[in-house]
Amino acid sequence: MASRLGSILKLAAIGAPVVSAAASSYYPLDVHVLHTFSDPTWLENLAIRGNGELLTTQLAPSPALYQVNRLTGEPTTVATWDADEWKGALGIAETATDIFYVILSAFIDDDFVKTSGTNSIFEVDMTTFALASDGVSVETNATVTHLVDIPEADFLNGMATLDDEHIFVGDVYSGVVYVIDVTTGDYQVAGNDTLMKYSVDGSVASTNLGSNGLKVRDGYLYWTNTARGFLARAPFGSDGVLTAAGEIVATNLAKADDFQFASDGTAFIAQNQEDTLSAAWGVEDGTAVVAEALAGSNISTILAGVTSPKFGRTSTDCNRLYLSTSGALGLPINGTVTVAGTISYVDIDFS
Ligand SMILES: *[C@@H]1O[C@H](CO)[C@@H](O)[C@H](O)[C@H]1NC(C)=O
Ligand SMILES: *[C@@H]1O[C@H](CO)[C@@H](O)[C@H](O)[C@H]1NC(C)=O
Ligand SMILES: *[C@@H]1O[C@H](CO)[C@@H](O)[C@H](O)[C@H]1NC(C)=O
Ligand SMILES: *[C@@H]1O[C@H](CO)[C@@H](O)[C@H](O)[C@H]1NC(C)=O
Repeated sequence: MASRLGSILKLAAIGAPVVSAAASSYYPLDVHVLHTFSDPTWLENLAIRGNGELLTTQLAPSPALYQVNRLTGEPTTVATWDADEWKGALGIAETATDIFYVILSAFIDDDFVKTSGTNSIFEVDMTTFALASDGVSVETNATVTHLVDIPEADFLNGMATLDDEHIFVGDVYSGVVYVIDVTTGDYQVAGNDTLMKYSVDGSVASTNLGSNGLKVRDGYLYWTNTARGFLARAPFGSDGVLTAAGEIVATNLAKADDFQFASDGTAFIAQNQEDTLSAAWGVEDGTAVVAEALAGSNISTILAGVTSPKFGRTSTDCNRLYLSTSGALGLPINGTVTVAGTISYVDIDFS
């Protein structure tokens, strides 16, 4: 408990002003915008390359993958996909160095119900990608190949790396997680847990989104549940299939989207339709800790529709948490306000 409070106070110290020191206090970290995309743009997920550059997937207006320069914010298009065949690009994860996988989703209506099309997984090999001397235009392209379709999936959204040969992908509508062998394209259901479902026993849900962000840590698969507002986990076996029922490890996470662990185990969670970034300390204890807001709010555009947090990977930005945003296209702020999607960041003080 002492270390958790210590972490909170250290985090509070770098963002001014601290509104209140009470348990419910709100610590507004300074949010910096690295790049603003055109309006409207829904950036859905984020990955950081080993060389430090950022990759972000675009859900709307059309499926695309960009590299964003971590210093200048300049974006370069890495790949685009046929907008007549897929709604958008979503989860992204890396297996071997610079080998990324990206979800391309079927078409959905405003309630996230599949209307047509098929969910697909593509491989994006960044080892062949090079920028020209201007630092922005493409000299040689990434190598983009179709890996597999999952026709029975409704709305694939989150992705996590299990190892160099396997990834998890989550169906946020059905509340099912698949494990895919990326060497063969073979896949199976890894989890179909009740904590992945957006509603329990047919009760009315706040949104039709269940298991959303996915991460692997120390033999557990962790996932957020958007409608039910928590972070949960379950252990998995050598084949990636979950071996026990899920347990809730953090609450107070309304509309939780993607998340990331810091090396010390702190979980940072993007709450898309709450326009808020929160943190949860002690989730690995397996008790349901209460997450606390660090930045943004549901009446502010500071983190409008924040979708994914990812730490930098160089020695100079490893405490910088980059954030993709959707401009609140999923739920306009105060019912009407949307803005352009951004890549933004907050700096976290772990000292
Ligand atoms: C990269 O791929 C894009 C899209 O297919 C194409 O328009 C472009 O000419 C390619 N660039 C190079 C340098 O090959
Ligand atoms: C998930 O579990 C439910 C309830 O047992 C079942 O009806 C459904 O078919 C399962 N889904 C998958 C993809 O296995
Ligand atoms: C939303 O409404 C609140 C209350 O009226 C107001 O303070 C806030 O500025 C509004 N936010 C935006 C982004 O318009
Ligand atoms: C913002 O969140 C608060 C606390 O959950 C809630 O009471 C309020 O209705 C929300 N406001 C908007 C504009 O969504």
